[in-house]
Amino acid sequence: MSIQVFEKENIFKLDTGNTSYIMSVMDDGHLLHLYYGAKLNEADLTYLGTPHSRVSFWAIQPGSDYSADSMALEYSGSGTADLRPCSVTTVDEDGDNVTDLRYDSYTLSSGKPKLPGLPCVYLNEGQEAQTLCITLKDAVKDLYVDLYYTVFAFSNAISRFTVIRNEGKQAEILEKAMTSTLQFHGKDYDLIHLHGAWAREFNVERSPISHTTQVISSFRGSSSHIANPFAVIAKKDAGEDSGEVYGMNLIYSSNFMVETELDAFDTLRVNLGINERGFAWKLNPGESFTTPEAILVYSENGLGEMSRTYQKLYQHNLIRGKYRDIPHPVLLNSWEGVYFDFDAKKILSMASAAAKLGIDLFVLDDGWFGKRDDDTCSLGDWVVNEKKLGCTMKELVDDINKLGLDFGLWFEPEMISPDSDLYRAHPDWCLHQKKRNPSLARHQLILDMSRKDVQDHVVETVSKVLSSANIRYVKWDMNRNMAEIGSALLPNERLGELFHRYILGVYSVMERITSAFPDVLFESCSGGGGRFDAGIMHYMPQNWTSDDSDAIQRLNIQYGCSFVYPPSVMTCHVSAVPNHQVHRVTPMKTRANVAMQGSFGYELDMSKLSEEDKAAVIEQVKEYKKYAHLVIDGLQYRLISPVNSNECAFMVVSEDKSTAIVTYVKKLNDPNPCTTRLYLKGLDENAKYRERDTGKVYNGKALMTAGLNLPDMKEDFDSLRMVFERV
Ligand code: GLA
Repeated sequence: MSIQVFEKENIFKLDTGNTSYIMSVMDDGHLLHLYYGAKLNEADLTYLGTPHSRVSFWAIQPGSDYSADSMALEYSGSGTADLRPCSVTTVDEDGDNVTDLRYDSYTLSSGKPKLPGLPCVYLNEGQEAQTLCITLKDAVKDLYVDLYYTVFAFSNAISRFTVIRNEGKQAEILEKAMTSTLQFHGKDYDLIHLHGAWAREFNVERSPISHTTQVISSFRGSSSHIANPFAVIAKKDAGEDSGEVYGMNLIYSSNFMVETELDAFDTLRVNLGINERGFAWKLNPGESFTTPEAILVYSENGLGEMSRTYQKLYQHNLIRGKYRDIPHPVLLNSWEGVYFDFDAKKILSMASAAAKLGIDLFVLDDGWFGKRDDDTCSLGDWVVNEKKLGCTMKELVDDINKLGLDFGLWFEPEMISPDSDLYRAHPDWCLHQKKRNPSLARHQLILDMSRKDVQDHVVETVSKVLSSANIRYVKWDMNRNMAEIGSALLPNERLGELFHRYILGVYSVMERITSAFPDVLFESCSGGGGRFDAGIMHYMPQNWTSDDSDAIQRLNIQYGCSFVYPPSVMTCHVSAVPNHQVHRVTPMKTRANVAMQGSFGYELDMSKLSEEDKAAVIEQVKEYKKYAHLVIDGLQYRLISPVNSNECAFMVVSEDKSTAIVTYVKKLNDPNPCTTRLYLKGLDENAKYRERDTGKVYNGKALMTAGLNLPDMKEDFDSLRMVFERV
């Protein structure tokens, strides 16, 4: 890892273990992007930076020989000669909507800065990183843009974020503030991204980049089920294990955008940052704005290596708290087992069955507070419904602890039901537009988390419940999109700040609560994966992946999620059959094999399981716990994609390559089937491995290059779990 600055030549070169990133300053002060890709010994690539000479129609700014419209700008201003999608837009009080950015200065430092109020990657003790800050300036406005780049000694990822500083005399409205812009040469690229909907998140879509502007975005107040703040620019020939890919992921949980445009000269520009739609931030003189952080990962060995780089960095340098390093408890969640229909007796019967089967923790989901027996009321009234339970929370938790189980509780702290004591007391605490009736989703409104009084109230009420009993786990849900956005406290001219202020408020509340309760495992949820992003991961090491718990649907969902996020963050539950979302009946074995890919648990009424299923659960829990450390620190390899395929296979290998677990699932069985040959990955090619169930010993290299024939499956949705230990 190193950052070199060649002052005479005005060249900046960032090197990670395997990659180089090169920029230079042109004579007219524009900062050019010259190269990002496989590591190079050469820094002077300025010969690549010469833009097109004079072309009809292209505007040329005074003092320049070339049009900015044909330059590969590292971070582009707006309202100037560059008419492509820009990185930043500012408008001052005189209506000057130009932001003309030229090189000003740089600083180089060791370590990595924190981002105020925002989640970010951090260094552990003894880990090294270097940070370059390049400052650009609009001389007319006295507006400065600091571009931060960090390279790490222990990862091939590059971190970027941007700070926009108003040193001028007038207020500026920031209408667009991208975290990063990247420039690629040529049109030989595909765009890969993750799209979905409630209960069918993380679909991988790959499409050619064309001469148009493509935007992947969320305008829902959260990263959303619909899209994810992640995209890959992949060479057309790139696949799972070969070819050049560039991953980009925003550590952010609200509205975002990834914008690509292939221009008239076949230069591809990619912007990543907060969605400009609905965004306008007032920067008074002396104020600054910090964008969220983006993590860029280049790999010349395809998508698999890119994903492992993200997973490892996030597991060890983004997630925090004690559950970053240790396996998460195996839990039983009450939701699909009993929904709202329970009392203490019912809960104890489920928990007592769970305790006998080796489960560590019982989670009481929605319905324990206010007068909530369905989803029409009580959000905001975080007061235990003792009448419904038949006891206090402390009594219930103590009884569950006596069974040998820890206890966890569901909250939806950012929400407020119109039918709640909180709403009756504070009708202006929700996001709303004064003259309009607000849209409801799931009968609920959203608390205005931009307000300090609301933030304090949420911290106080959630903390009160957590302090009232031995609660070791919290499921933090968020169950709707935003609409009719307005705030009783924010001045009208600052309305464009509300989405971002909301999420800053959420981050602040999460920081306060999670640091006050360091022993509690926090799981994020937003109707499943509606806010499954790297931002929330900084506060909550686990995330309910999808409200679809069907093992076959989960193959696709977990496959897409693995493109960027670590397995330990994915909460995966074995649920009852017929499955509640798709009514499919799958074997218990397969439900467990699929769920063991992430942080494992169950979501069904354990007291109603057959003796055979109970015996299976005992074995599954033992099996999961034996290898649970691999979910935390193993390396994951995708072997067969489930997308448009009847099969799926993935494996995890311990970092020292001594243990590997292969999971194979075949969706529909067929008669007289062809033999499936699986080519394993990530093993020690000089070692021998014994497969646990058959006792057969294989050569590591042979397993990877010659492959392994799998036995025929016996029924629809059958699966196989193979454990290989180095001998
Ligand atoms: C959301 C969650 C579910 C469950 C319900 C409870 O839909 O995704 O897992 O917690 O809320 O209302």
